[in-house]
Amino acid sequence: MADRKKITLPRLFQKVANHEPITMLTCYDYPTAYFQEEAGIDMILVGDSLAMTMLGYDSTLPATMDDMIRHTQAVRRGAPTAWLVGDMPYMSYQPSVETAIRNAGRFMAEAGTDCIKLEGGAEMADRVKGIVAAGIPVMGHLGLTPQSASALGGFRVQGKSALQAKKIIDDALALEAAGVFSILLEMVPDRVCKIITERVKSCFIISLGSGPHAHGQLLIYHDMFGLYPKFKPRMAKVFGNAGEVILNGLKDYVAEVTTRQFPQPENYFTIKDDEFAELLKLLE
Ligand code: KIV
Repeated sequence: MADRKKITLPRLFQKVANHEPITMLTCYDYPTAYFQEEAGIDMILVGDSLAMTMLGYDSTLPATMDDMIRHTQAVRRGAPTAWLVGDMPYMSYQPSVETAIRNAGRFMAEAGTDCIKLEGGAEMADRVKGIVAAGIPVMGHLGLTPQSASALGGFRVQGKSALQAKKIIDDALALEAAGVFSILLEMVPDRVCKIITERVKSCFIISLGSGPHAHGQLLIYHDMFGLYPKFKPRMAKVFGNAGEVILNGLKDYVAEVTTRQFPQPENYFTIKDDEFAELLKLLE
């Protein structure tokens, strides 16, 4: 969107006040960021899911700060006005408050993000407070938190029992008290998400597979366009099968090169006859 004004926190909170859902997607590269900006996406998350979607690992844990910074810089170049969220990778904030502040600062200074996101509830409140005190907005992440997938028993819905749901609600309120501007709820039952959305006052809630009651929605870009070959989470809606289009194009390319249908004259360059004649003389 060539003439869009920069998305700021006041603009996001204005959407919440107007009951306009916030749109959010993951993104990891320049061309996709360009298209997301053109489509008018409000918030872009450069998720550590890039370890899986872009680098082919089976979990998000191998993503490093340097991986995250490089991809986030590319996304910022493609999407100058979106609210850009840098996802703190595994062990970039867990060891200490100081480590968390330093790495959050790298996202802001080196990659031009507007905020950072980290996973965890009450146990992360001191990290959130420290980063917020350093002047950096923080988004929380509860429910299925992929960095803890092993402890959570895999990539599965969280908060299905009353006790688990109560813990997620308590964690959301603890994050709000610590100063987050927003909380992402991933794979939490819809009615639990509704309670949290209704209870929080100073932050807004984004849902990933947690239903329609949140203030906004997030999808993983690769899931919505059939670009992740290993699996598609149940909650993801496919808005277009780009993966199939690309695969068919690649098969056509192999067939056309093999059968010499490609290249055609419009696909290559020529030299004028007199220059070519001169060249042949030079080569004699
Ligand atoms: O890394 C990521 O893309 C995320 C989403 C799963 C929310 O954190």
